[in-house]
Amino acid sequence: MAEKNIESVLHEDRLFPPAPEFSQAAHVKGAEHYEALYDEAKADPAAFWAKLAGTELDWFKEWDQVLDWQPPNAKWFVGGQMNITYNCLDRHLKTWRKNKAAIIWEGEPGDSCTLTYAQLHREVCQVANMLKGLGVGKGDRVAIYMPMVPEAAIAMLACARIGAPHSVVFGGFSAEALRDRLNDAQCKAVITADGGFRKDKVVPLKPQVDAAIADNAAPSVESVLVVERTKQGVTMESGRDHWWHELKKEASADCPPEPMDSEDMLFVLYTSGSTGKPKGVVHTTAGYNLYTHMTLKWAFDIQDTDVYWCTADVGWITGHSYIVYGPLSNGATTVMYEGAPRPSNPGCFWDVVEKYGVTIFYTAPTAIRAFIKMGDEHPNSRDLSSLRILGTVGEPINPEAWIWYHRVIGAEKCPIVDTWWQTETGGFMLTPLPGAIATKPGSATKPFPGIIADIVDAEGNPVGDNEGGYLVIKHPWPSMIRNVYGDSDRFRKTYWEGIPPKGDQHFYFAGDGARRDQDGYFWVMGRVDDVVNVSGHRLGTMEIESALVSHPAVAEAAVVSKPDEVKGEEIVAFVILEGSEPAGDELSATLKKHVGKEIGAIARPGEIRFTDALPKTRSGKIMRRLLRNLASGQDISGDTSTLEDRTVLDRLRASS
Ligand code: PRX
Repeated sequence: MAEKNIESVLHEDRLFPPAPEFSQAAHVKGAEHYEALYDEAKADPAAFWAKLAGTELDWFKEWDQVLDWQPPNAKWFVGGQMNITYNCLDRHLKTWRKNKAAIIWEGEPGDSCTLTYAQLHREVCQVANMLKGLGVGKGDRVAIYMPMVPEAAIAMLACARIGAPHSVVFGGFSAEALRDRLNDAQCKAVITADGGFRKDKVVPLKPQVDAAIADNAAPSVESVLVVERTKQGVTMESGRDHWWHELKKEASADCPPEPMDSEDMLFVLYTSGSTGKPKGVVHTTAGYNLYTHMTLKWAFDIQDTDVYWCTADVGWITGHSYIVYGPLSNGATTVMYEGAPRPSNPGCFWDVVEKYGVTIFYTAPTAIRAFIKMGDEHPNSRDLSSLRILGTVGEPINPEAWIWYHRVIGAEKCPIVDTWWQTETGGFMLTPLPGAIATKPGSATKPFPGIIADIVDAEGNPVGDNEGGYLVIKHPWPSMIRNVYGDSDRFRKTYWEGIPPKGDQHFYFAGDGARRDQDGYFWVMGRVDDVVNVSGHRLGTMEIESALVSHPAVAEAAVVSKPDEVKGEEIVAFVILEGSEPAGDELSATLKKHVGKEIGAIARPGEIRFTDALPKTRSGKIMRRLLRNLASGQDISGDTSTLEDRTVLDRLRASS
């Protein structure tokens, strides 16, 4: 595999306008069209969303009130009833889309399948009935811990069909992390698989579920439904564990959608914060359906002829909103791929694009940087001419990666849609609309219509052009986080008190720093809290610190990140030992493994530095900024006036 160095600093200030013929054919047809939508939404957000809710979605009962905003609690479409699976499935069966491909799936070993809307509907109804048979009903939480197989999407939709909120846990999380999530949301059932295929290996899943719930450690779990994927052999506990394919034999395909109130919980999805354990982000039904539907339609300009592929895993919000709900609500064809580029097949993504004629491709900057390293020969040897729009998400994209994506993958003709959003926002907040907004490499451009975004200082005062500040949202939007599961206090403190309200004005605090340029384009700079972003995965440094400290050899730990050419950031842990185990490579490897076991491989530190002291302020707070600078090889001698013990610096420099 050819390895290339990515040029480190590219100065790029060109503007990339959409081609006129692209704009003409798009849903949103140009800058004026965008501005008209934006202004209309800004003048009366409730009226704007109500109009779209009426034309774009099907309802069992119309709402009485569009928005009930009692900060920080928003209710949208109050009194309305619907079921998101009706919008994602049933309504398409009444049209020609009945036999259109809903999901095209490609497995890593090369197996594949296509489910039409009619077939998907049938599968979802059967699994919904299977869940009912296991005693799962409206309001019961169901964990989904799956590889990237169609059954993962089917399981989510089956839960939504019967009104059982799902809690999807990324298959890369450990048994311990799964157990915490099962207990926090008190899940009644778990849907899993024997295992999945990842980078030419079998990743066991059912054994992790067994470990998570062994010895009554997750007492709410009554049943486990298991998809057979890898056939590696697993233990099934009679009465508790059931094979998916066995129950399906008996399951009826008739399952009317449960009428759901607009504000009934659709799902909970855990994400890392700067303090404490991961938070269960709660999303509700109607607002989430509307917002993911509209954002996908306008930002990716979804048309009936599109073959749309988002490379995320359904374990993340991107998979929820833009592999499953957004595309299916639009009646689109969504591609799911189980695999990842790997040494044995570095061109596998481009094979999928070529095989299915993918027209819209949505991935993360870390993947793009990895592709650059793998060499242009892989995409260049495939036919990528079907592509018409490219997307990116998860972290700021550096201009080098943007330009490569534009040139090598997009053949200089595909608009690049850089979408800034979060688990908590449910859908895209800042994004180009590809026929309407000229792009600038590295900028997520402008707010989606209906989103009132601003950049403010710590008191909530707007800052000037090109001055950095905190990114905030100043008006509720339909898919915003409704609560942190079981912890309204944390919800209020984290998101609504980061910037204190000013009179009636409440600020949703995103936790990101940003600036706005003279043309009104937003540039997101990255997190301003103790959250790190490794390969587009969001991790709390405190979570990793607690994992390290739970090892008997560790007395104290401080985790920061340093820049990484491919992953964006890499975790560096400073560790103070206790006991007699000697510092060294062996212990370093043990500790990395330990973090993997406690949280999952994605949280493993890239580097462990043993030290005998950590820099603290006089009030005892760890000075992470200083550690960050040290980790990335910068000078740490300046600005240490608040440091309690100055000798710590020399001892730290000596840390290895
Ligand atoms: O820091 C921002 C970064 O990812 C964070 C949200 O992470 P998560 O909830 O895991 O959701 C990721 C997928 C939506 C944000 O606070 N982020 C996400 N997209 C971008 C980004 N940073 C810059 N540009 C983006 N396009």
